[in-house]
Amino acid sequence: MPLRKKLGLLLVSACGLHTAVGFMAQNPNKVLLSTMPTVSPYGRDATIAWAAPVLLPTKPMPPVQPAGLGSKFYLPAFLPPWIARDTVRTKFSDDIFFLEQSQTFVNVSVNIRSTVIRLKNGDLFVHAPVAPTPECVSLIKELGEVAYVVLPVTAIEHKVYMARFASLFPKAKIYVAPGQFSWPVDLPLGFRVDGVLTEENKKSMPFIDEIDYTGWIFRPFTGSISEVAFFHRKSRTLLVTDAIIWIDDQPPEILRQAGVGQDLWKKMALQACFLGPPNLDTFQKIKQRLIVSPVIRVLVVSRAKKEVAEWIKRVCEWKFERVIPAHFSAPIKAGPVDLQDAYAFLEEGETGADRGGKSLPFGFDFSALWQGRQGAVGRKGRGGKSVQFPEQDLKILKSLNKFVSATGLAE
Ligand SMILES: [Fe+2]
Repeated sequence: MPLRKKLGLLLVSACGLHTAVGFMAQNPNKVLLSTMPTVSPYGRDATIAWAAPVLLPTKPMPPVQPAGLGSKFYLPAFLPPWIARDTVRTKFSDDIFFLEQSQTFVNVSVNIRSTVIRLKNGDLFVHAPVAPTPECVSLIKELGEVAYVVLPVTAIEHKVYMARFASLFPKAKIYVAPGQFSWPVDLPLGFRVDGVLTEENKKSMPFIDEIDYTGWIFRPFTGSISEVAFFHRKSRTLLVTDAIIWIDDQPPEILRQAGVGQDLWKKMALQACFLGPPNLDTFQKIKQRLIVSPVIRVLVVSRAKKEVAEWIKRVCEWKFERVIPAHFSAPIKAGPVDLQDAYAFLEEGETGADRGGKSLPFGFDFSALWQGRQGAVGRKGRGGKSVQFPEQDLKILKSLNKFVSATGLAE
């Protein structure tokens, strides 16, 4: 098989796993970009052990009415399960709930999570909706009335459920991250948008007193990619989508219910991170620590370092105590220092993923963005360094990155 074709297949396999997929869905010219995986553990073991974030417990929360098979149907599906999918709801607190489903590509399954926050007046704020099966909708309605729904990224694996979800909650206001458009041309999204989550629009957001937000956007000439982070002031919780992950030793509950054991989970997690054959030794380096996923780091962040660094700095001005991402484990007990350490590669001047090894076209001082980290969190950062992964694991990623850079489409 020609190298070009192999790379194309690898690109496709990144679909549905990470934000990079958004490129593919939004513009056919960006298919190349969307195929990169990224890997990024960080921090020396010793410093991580000093104060590593830990997972916070959640409580299983059965529905009032047990769901039958018929309530699990969702068509048309973007990724497997093709017809019926389970939804697991867990309770973290009286105000924060998770709805998780599985998402499969080829032989790799990961979890995808929507977070529901109950506001002070009882209304619900739904972050990154998952497939609105009858069971899922029922589980949400048991919690209260949905007032706000946010699409926090441009990634297709999160955007794909929005139109149906919005139609099932017609009274809810719908807000989206900037840079959304449809593939292959800029058609309407298929659902009503009540506002775009930009800095300029903050004052008009009805939830802003309880939930703040800030986003970043990168605009290569072929389109846009963006992510918006949210901060629930009352619980000091940071909501992100694809910006950060925590991979646990054990599979998520939704995959355990599907029969996925620990060994299979390790292999799938590695494949989801590296898009290549799993090297089980590497699992020790990516597990139980806050990391930027390989796909995001190599394919996206490496091309938008300035935008992301500025975003992380803004996010770290919030005094959050836990992080809830949309994939893998949650909630994670972590604060601004932990997030900054996860993104330490931005100030380390790594060169491997810098636009295919080329220097950035601007002399940007990343260390300036990190100044004041002590004041932001009240304690000194750990100063962790990005873990260097085995070259063998990074082979596919680096090849894809070079391929994308060679096209020039992502610059
Ligand atoms: Fe995602």
